[in-house]
Order: sequence, then structure tokens, then C-alpha cells
Amino acid sequence: MNKQELMKTAQALVANGKGILAADESTGTIEKRLTSINTPNTETNRRDYREMLFTTDGMEEFISGVILYDETLRQKAANGTPFSKMLQAKGVIPGIKVDAGAKTLPGGLDGEKITEGLDGLSDRLKEYYGLGARFAKWRAVIEIDAVRPSSLCLAANAEALARYAALCQEANIVPIVEPEVLMDGDHDIARCEEVTSDALSTLFAALERHNVLLEGILLKPNMVIPGLKCKKQASAAEVAEATLRCFRRHVPAAVPGIVFLSGGQADDVATANLNAMNAAAGEKPWKLSYSYGRALQAAALKAWGGKPANIAAGKRAFYHRAKMNSMAAMGTYKAIMENAA
Ligand code: 13P
Repeated sequence: MNKQELMKTAQALVANGKGILAADESTGTIEKRLTSINTPNTETNRRDYREMLFTTDGMEEFISGVILYDETLRQKAANGTPFSKMLQAKGVIPGIKVDAGAKTLPGGLDGEKITEGLDGLSDRLKEYYGLGARFAKWRAVIEIDAVRPSSLCLAANAEALARYAALCQEANIVPIVEPEVLMDGDHDIARCEEVTSDALSTLFAALERHNVLLEGILLKPNMVIPGLKCKKQASAAEVAEATLRCFRRHVPAAVPGIVFLSGGQADDVATANLNAMNAAAGEKPWKLSYSYGRALQAAALKAWGGKPANIAAGKRAFYHRAKMNSMAAMGTYKAIMENAA
């Protein structure tokens, strides 16, 4: 393990005003996105869509790294340049989703999930490093209601995340550790804080047990927010207060960065919430930035609509969202900036 390389990569991914584009949708998930714009899920369409995002001029001012899916890491742009080389040439670090998805956890409550993909991971990581990947992602899915998650669900997923993280670091790949407490449900913000706290304390105990170098990871969590169906939604100030309190209690200061997932929040809400955290007073020993999928891509996907004639519009939409989130990562975003688009 090259500790210096790991720490350098982790810090570069959360450089000032920069965050990560999560473009690692599996073939099944990208199908849902493409279907929403009446576009068939072909390899060419997947390539054209991702090429539009990656070739957006100036995106590298705001995007430090892109998480790719296996197919995309091996794929070439229309001109024959591999996407990994294209990103590297812009100073953008290629990353790779390495988990094999969330499956039903035997013994769990009401269909709880465990993420698979550890078998053979060590060899896959070596190959991914050779293909240019310098960071990876593994997502654990934690469902939330009055009784879930079970302690089994938290412990089993934390153990898998820690095993993954240790394997990544052995391959000089920075692990993004993602315990996602879902937004689905009618739970309130206090219940989300309680579950997120349990998930994080279970996770960091496992990372310590596996001797994971905390300076060489990034945490990708949910924000502390009420469920989508909760009658009492929270303001950005309330989300920032609850999220910062939870993370100060449970995330060691050695972790260089916390890069949030958007999880189904509206684009501008994900931006405003991140901004509120960065603008808030008090101790923040880690960088607070983004690793958004939907909240960086939704507007671009819609503007493109699968039509070559709309590529410039898609790029403009992506550039704008990336810029707004970059401002939020520095705590200088204002809602009025949306109008400039
Ligand atoms: P969302 O921002 O759309 O939640 O996706 C981020 C991600 O990579 C989830 O694993």
C-alpha cells in the first residue's frame, strides 16, 4: 500500500470547490434514465450520453473525478479515445463502481439488503488500476422505518464496506465508502439522524478493525433529512444543523472528505443543503462536497433528450449544475445564481 498516493488522491478529489460526478449507473439503472427520455438503452446511446457529459468544456473546474461503470471505463468515445484517457487529459480522475449490487439479506427484516461483490475483488482492482482508475465506490443500502434497519443489516454492510476499503487501499485505489440511508418513507429528520448515527458508528468501528487508513478514504453518506413522505420537511438550515451534528459525533477528523450523494433530492435542494453546511459556523474538520448522480445529471439528461441536435444544451445544463454545486462546496451559492442559466 502506498499511503502517500492514497492520501494525495483523496485530497485531490476534494480540492477546493471540486466534487465528484457519479456516472456509474449500472446497465439496469441507466435504462431507467434513458427510458425517461424515450431513448433506447443501447451501448451507443450510453456512450453518447456519457461522452456529452465528459466533453463539457470547463467541467474540470468543478469536477475532480468521475465514477464510471465497468463498461464505461473500458469504452471509447466516438473518436476512438478511451474515456479514461479523455478524463485524465482534463485532469479529472477516473473512478470505478466495484460493488455487484444490493441483494436480499438472509435473516434481515422485511427484505433488508446486503451489498455483494467481494469475491474476486482483489484481482478486479488490479485490473482497474491498470485501466486508470484511482478511486472506487461501494454502496450499502439501508432502509429506514420505525423498526429498520436491524443491527444485523448495519453490521453486515459495515463489514463488507470495510473489507472492500481494505482491498482497495492494498491496490492503491481510494475507497469511497457509501452507507446510504434511503430517503424513502415518512420518517422524520430525528429518525434519520438516529439511523445515520448508528450506521456511521458501526461503519467506523469496522474500518478500524480492518486497519483502513482513514486519511486515504472518502465517506459518501446521505444528508440527515426527513423521509420523502414526511409531512414536516426541513429547511436547508435544519438539514445542515442535524447533518453537521451527526457527522461531528461520528466521523473522525482524519477523514479528508465527505462527499454526499443526492439520493433523490431535487437538484437545487441538494445544492442549497450542501451550501448551508459549508456556510454554517463551527468545526468542520473534513471537506464537505458532492458525489452526485441524479442532482448533477437530471437537467442535462432532459435537455439532451437523446437527440444529437441537443448536445450543446445538455452540456450547458451539466456545466451550470456542476458550477452551482462547486459554489455550494465553498459555501458561496445563492439561489439567485440559478437565474444566470
Ligand atoms: P445520487 O446522487 O443520484 O443519489 O447517486 C449517487 C450515487 O452514486 C449513489 O450510489
